[in-house]
Amino acid sequence: MHAQQSTAALAYLTGFGNEFSSEALPGALPLGQNSPQKVPYGLYAEQLSGTAFTVPRAEARRTWLYRIRPSAAHSRFERLERQIAGNRLGPVNPNRLRWSPLDIPQAPTDFVDGLVALAANAPGEAVSGISIYLYAASASMQRVFFDADGELLIVPESGRLRIATELGRLDVEPLEIAVIPRGMKFRVELLDDAARGYVCENHGCALRVPDLGPIGSNGLANPRDFLAPVAHYEDSDAPASLVQKFCGELWATELDHSPLDVVAWHGNLVPYKYDLRRFNTLGTVSFDHPDPSIFTVLTAPSAILGQANVDFVIFPPRWMVAESTFRPPWFHRNLMNEFMGLIQGVYDAKAEGFMPGGASLHNCMSAHGPDNATTTQAIAVELKPHKIDNTMAFMFESGQVLRPSQFALECPQLQKDYDSCWAGMAKTFTPEGN
Ligand SMILES: [Fe+2]
Repeated sequence: MHAQQSTAALAYLTGFGNEFSSEALPGALPLGQNSPQKVPYGLYAEQLSGTAFTVPRAEARRTWLYRIRPSAAHSRFERLERQIAGNRLGPVNPNRLRWSPLDIPQAPTDFVDGLVALAANAPGEAVSGISIYLYAASASMQRVFFDADGELLIVPESGRLRIATELGRLDVEPLEIAVIPRGMKFRVELLDDAARGYVCENHGCALRVPDLGPIGSNGLANPRDFLAPVAHYEDSDAPASLVQKFCGELWATELDHSPLDVVAWHGNLVPYKYDLRRFNTLGTVSFDHPDPSIFTVLTAPSAILGQANVDFVIFPPRWMVAESTFRPPWFHRNLMNEFMGLIQGVYDAKAEGFMPGGASLHNCMSAHGPDNATTTQAIAVELKPHKIDNTMAFMFESGQVLRPSQFALECPQLQKDYDSCWAGMAKTFTPEGN
């Protein structure tokens, strides 16, 4: 009954043949039929669709759920008084922005109440774009939540989470990530006193592992390392609160049973986790370094070929061996819009100010790169093979400009002096040559 979590390997996340199934009671899963007249154990059959029925097969995501009560058995949703801070699209702002970490709330605060919206490039009801949140929680959820606005990529920075989903439980710790499909019900329990981290809400096509091109058939995030849960159900008639996020707003209804009552399931719309330490990091062995897309863990396409709605990119521990090369990330101005966070350690482009749990935003064509101290050191240092260790920064990179929320622009965590890290760049130009 107490199914162990995360034991079923998730193969490629899309495409023909990628069906997964699990049952918490033997024989609960109907064979050869999705919706038989009588489901074993008196369960109800219900389909959860993550894509339109008519998308190409390789894009189609849906799962059949065999549950104690159908999800339809609920009363009217009422709008909650407490909404997510910053949940409306914020004003235009071309500035480079950086935030210090959130404080852990003293009062008991669960994962949903601990969410604040930092930036977004689309409203909740949009069919593409992303919204980015931070969470800081000090209590387990006593209620269950689902997000009708998008798929959730959860990146813990501190504190372990048990994410009890309709399909089973995922235990996730810092340096691991979890992805919860749009609409899937879940409850976040804290396995430590507090938890903090980042959430990317993907309003568009689902995340998947990137194509590898000339890299070949192995490397980066290997599909076998993505783990889906096994079926685990709650047979409870105790009152339960069910909260949904719908078009940016939180609404709730009261149930007379647990909504996490799925006894068996099959399909390819599944929650999953991934350990970032399993990422096969690739880089140069001669000179210069590749674009940071070489560090892509997951990507979600947009309607523009090759321009992601969101890329999830990490900067993991790695050897630096490039000869005669400026080794930190170079100065750049990009079309893509970069939101960065730090899970652990120090990021190799910033000497200070970018802390675990903190964040930065560099939008389209905003000029940025290593700070003054890092640049000076990188030009002067004698180059030897060197390992950047005990670090894990990441980026949510999107093809559409990310607007900081009103909350993000007014909160005390916003660093007022971020521009100063590039101030005083020494003029080293010598027309007569070195
Ligand atoms: Fe950048």
